[in-house]
Parts: sequence; C-alpha cells; structure tokens
Amino acid sequence: MKHFITASILTIVGLILFIFYDNGYLFHEQKITADEEQNGLKDQIIIHFSHVVAENTPKGLAAQKFSELVYEKTNGRVKVQVYPNGILYSDNDELEALKAGDVQMIAPSFTNMTNIVPQWKVLDLPFLFQDDDHIKRVFTGETGEQLLGYLNEREMKGLAFWSNGFKQMTSNSHPLIEPEDFAGETFRIMPGHVLKRQFYVLGAKPISTAFTEVFSSLEKQVVDGQENTISNIYSKGLYQYQPYLTLSNHGVLGYAVIVNQEFWNSLPQDIRPQIEDAMKESTLWNMEMSVQMNKTQLEELRKMENLHIYKLPADAKARWMERFKPLYREVEQETDPELITAIKEKAAQNSQN
Ligand code: LMR
Repeated sequence: MKHFITASILTIVGLILFIFYDNGYLFHEQKITADEEQNGLKDQIIIHFSHVVAENTPKGLAAQKFSELVYEKTNGRVKVQVYPNGILYSDNDELEALKAGDVQMIAPSFTNMTNIVPQWKVLDLPFLFQDDDHIKRVFTGETGEQLLGYLNEREMKGLAFWSNGFKQMTSNSHPLIEPEDFAGETFRIMPGHVLKRQFYVLGAKPISTAFTEVFSSLEKQVVDGQENTISNIYSKGLYQYQPYLTLSNHGVLGYAVIVNQEFWNSLPQDIRPQIEDAMKESTLWNMEMSVQMNKTQLEELRKMENLHIYKLPADAKARWMERFKPLYREVEQETDPELITAIKEKAAQNSQN
C-alpha cells in the first residue's frame, strides 16, 4: 500500500512537471505563440539590430518604429529584433559584429565611421548645418544618397541617415562661452578626426571613448566636459556631472543605418522594397521626432536645479567660427570641397525642395 501511494504521488508530480514544461513555464522557456496569420513562422527572417543609446531617444524610438513597420509591411515575414543600450555591442565593436554577420543591422554615428568612409568627415564640420530643416534636406536628399553610396565599396548597404539633432557643449567646472573657456580642458569625443581637431583648435584636449563609457568617465572626472545632443544628455543622465550646458548647436549627431551586404543580398526580391519603404517612413518620422524630443527634453533639463544652461551669443559664435576656419580648409583638402558646397547650398532652400 505504502509503495502504491508513493508511486501515485510520483506519477502526479511527474505529470504536473510535464504540463508546466510543455507550456514553457519551466526554465523560463518562452514559447512563440503562433496564430493563423503566422503559418510561415518557421520561415520568418530575423534582423538583429544593435545600437548603443537608450530606447527613449530619436535613434531608439526610430529603430522600434522601423521594426513595427517592417513587420506590418512584410505581413510578419520579417521581424526586426532591436537591442538598445549597447547590450550586445558597444560602438567600438558593433561594426565588426555587423561585418561578421553576428548582427544584421547597426546605426552608428557617422563620426564613428569616418575612418572607413573619409567623405563623411564633412558632416562633422562645426556650424555647417543651420537648422533642423537643413539636416533633413541633406540627409534625405541627393547629397545623403551620394554619401550613403560610399558604403557600397565597403561591402555594406546604407539604408538611410537618421538624425539626433544638434550637439551642445557641457562642462563640470564653468560655462563654455568664449573659445578661451576650452583652454586646457579635457573633452570626451566620439572617435573622429574632425572632432579631435575641433577641440584642438579650441585649445582643449580631446579623449575618445565609447558612448557606453561616457557616464562613468564623467562621474570619475576622467574628462572635464563633452559634447552631445540634449536627448543623449538627458536620457543617459550626463547632466548629473556636468552642471554647465551651453546651447551651441555647433555640430550634428547623425547615424547611418547600415545592413550587412551579404545578408541584404540574400533577402527575397520582394522583401527588399518593403524594408526600404519601412526605412523611408521611419526616417521621416525620426526627423520630426528628434526635433520634438530635443525640445521636450530641454524643458525637462531646465527644471534641474543644479544645471546652468546658457545660449551661445552670436558674437561668441563668430569667434568660435573664426577658430574653426583652418579646420574647414583641412577637411576641404582631405575630402571633396564640392560636398561641402552642396551641403551649404541646401541651407537656403525651402524644406519642400
Ligand atoms: C556618442 O557616442 O556620443 C553618440 O554616438 C552615441 C549615439 O549613438 O547617439
């Protein structure tokens, strides 16, 4: 009798465990639920899309929007899995991961790519872009297309440029208004020749680090200051160690959305235009949203008691620009002067053009 009871208990426990396992409740296994529309689920194409910023940023949200649009336009045949915050790769190693096919899509800042695509240096020239419409016209127009085209020679497919708007200057010790305010200070930069030179001509010392390390290098005072957009300063809490912020709008932070070429070539013919459509739509959405987001988050920053915000006065801006003149000449020689002219020309046009 005793054996019978023990055997029955073991059978019941075993049965319960089996039911739990089969439903994916054990070992945190998650079952993909299939429905009628997902009959082809086993043929679903997954695009792993890695980036380094927070989800609540122009890049983070555009990646999410793109993912939704791709799913919709391909009727679920393609799923874009987004990995934010550098959880997979930092900005130092995402390009290698893309080339190796470990992820299929990344959106690095164009600065991070200037070693590979030297023509993109022009995009880092300080005060080249006048306003958000200017950025949009260049990024989504012929010049943007031409610039993206340089990736083809490097066996990568550029789908679009996204924007995070204008960069601002921050410091841990004093307001940055005159060029002399930069003298002797150390600044964190993205790895890029033009940004390095930009700080040298201001008399400062640039130190390049991955975005994933910026917060801790400010906290530990490895650097005195940095440049970034309002959305990155806000979403990563960089303002906590940088109580002086100058609204300088001196440079643009933009991203190239890049796909592994081999993967792109392997996609079915009918899928590619659907993905391109989704990219067009999410790019326009990104352009609008980045403007809004930087505005809203600036208002949030204005509420921070210990943060001092200054607007760069026009006469001081003229003095910064004077310092940057040799940098323009240098980049003109190193790249294509016509590219700079083409970008400048887009400043005056109506945004419909
Ligand atoms: C940075 O390194 O500051 C930016 O490139 C981060 C990003 O991707 O916005």
